[in-house]
Amino acid sequence: MNALLCRGLGPIENLAWVDVESPPCGPRQVRFRTTVATLGFMDVLMVRGLYQHKPSLPYIPGSVSAGVVTEVGAEVKAIRVGQRVSASAMSGAFAEERVADEEVLLVTPDDMDDEQATSLRLTFTPSYLALVVRARLQAAETLVVTGATGGISYSAMQLGRHLGARVIGAVGSDAKVAYLRQQGFAEAINYSRESFKDRVNALTEGRGADVIFEVIGGEIFEQSLRCINAGGRVLVLGFASGRIGQVPANLPLLKNAAVMGSFLGGWKKHDPQGIAAMTREIVRILSESGMRTPIARTFKMAEGAQAMKALLSRTVSGKIMLVP
Ligand SMILES: NC(=O)c1ccc[n+]([C@@H]2O[C@H](COP(=O)([O-])OP(=O)(O)OC[C@H]3O[C@@H](n4cnc5c(N)ncnc54)[C@H](OP(=O)(O)O)[C@@H]3O)[C@@H](O)[C@H]2O)c1
Repeated sequence: MNALLCRGLGPIENLAWVDVESPPCGPRQVRFRTTVATLGFMDVLMVRGLYQHKPSLPYIPGSVSAGVVTEVGAEVKAIRVGQRVSASAMSGAFAEERVADEEVLLVTPDDMDDEQATSLRLTFTPSYLALVVRARLQAAETLVVTGATGGISYSAMQLGRHLGARVIGAVGSDAKVAYLRQQGFAEAINYSRESFKDRVNALTEGRGADVIFEVIGGEIFEQSLRCINAGGRVLVLGFASGRIGQVPANLPLLKNAAVMGSFLGGWKKHDPQGIAAMTREIVRILSESGMRTPIARTFKMAEGAQAMKALLSRTVSGKIMLVP
């Protein structure tokens, strides 16, 4: 099969689309022919050697993909050849075929296409974990989302609105403010040219946001602690800016506020069944509400490096997809 191969962590230009041997399918594993994969921020960090998990080399990047089952291991009970599935694991997605453990697979519902089935594992599932399970966002609370047109963040915008919250999107350009307005999110902040904390405080009559869904880290995270309401929750999702923010402990103390991590990968380790149940629940919500992950651009897997450059350019709204 052909796969995007990473032989050494570092510059993304080193990735190559090459012929590699298909891995064997173990007794509790499933092989599927890839139809589409989703590019996540984490995939790019891992290739560059900047992610906490360092894969053994060489490796095939990509965490989430979907396709049609071509082989099932002898002990697999719930999945059959010919079914459509999606898989979420640390690596192996950017290839014509993938062998995945049974427990990381979900059968794709008949009324969902493969693009949506694969995307939601990096968008709505982690944002459901953050907003519903961790922060317990309530209707009529104010939710502020940073990087609001990005993959996970735009799902948080939609889910927050679906849950009845007042949703404010914070982004890094006027073009992204315009995108949010086109999607019906009237309240938006451009933190590249206005103070994030001052705007959040102004929009909330000085109270601050009840929940801040924070993916940027660094300065924006640190400002979040200064525009959170009493009893509020600052959700730590990631550090897209490359800098991990610091917490002066007096700030959560004074506001009776919580700084809470929400990390799908970590949750999966101690409660994989819980994540599967959350994903089933989000599939039900998506089917009823019609919410979708917007697809920004589709690249060939052979052009994986260009796709990763597009993600790092901060000009994309929505998810980048890769096809074999
Ligand atoms: N905790 C979890 O369970 C979980 C799950 C999935 C993803 N994540 C994390 O969430 C973050 C976003 O992931 P994603 O897949 O949604 O990525 P994405 O679609 O590429 O969105 C990232 C956003 O971050 C902003 N950004 C700020 N500084 C940036 C920089 N230096 N380079 C690139 N983007 C920058 C950009 O928005 P602006 O230009 O508007 O600032 C961009 O839209 C990442 O840190 C990722 O690791 C966490």
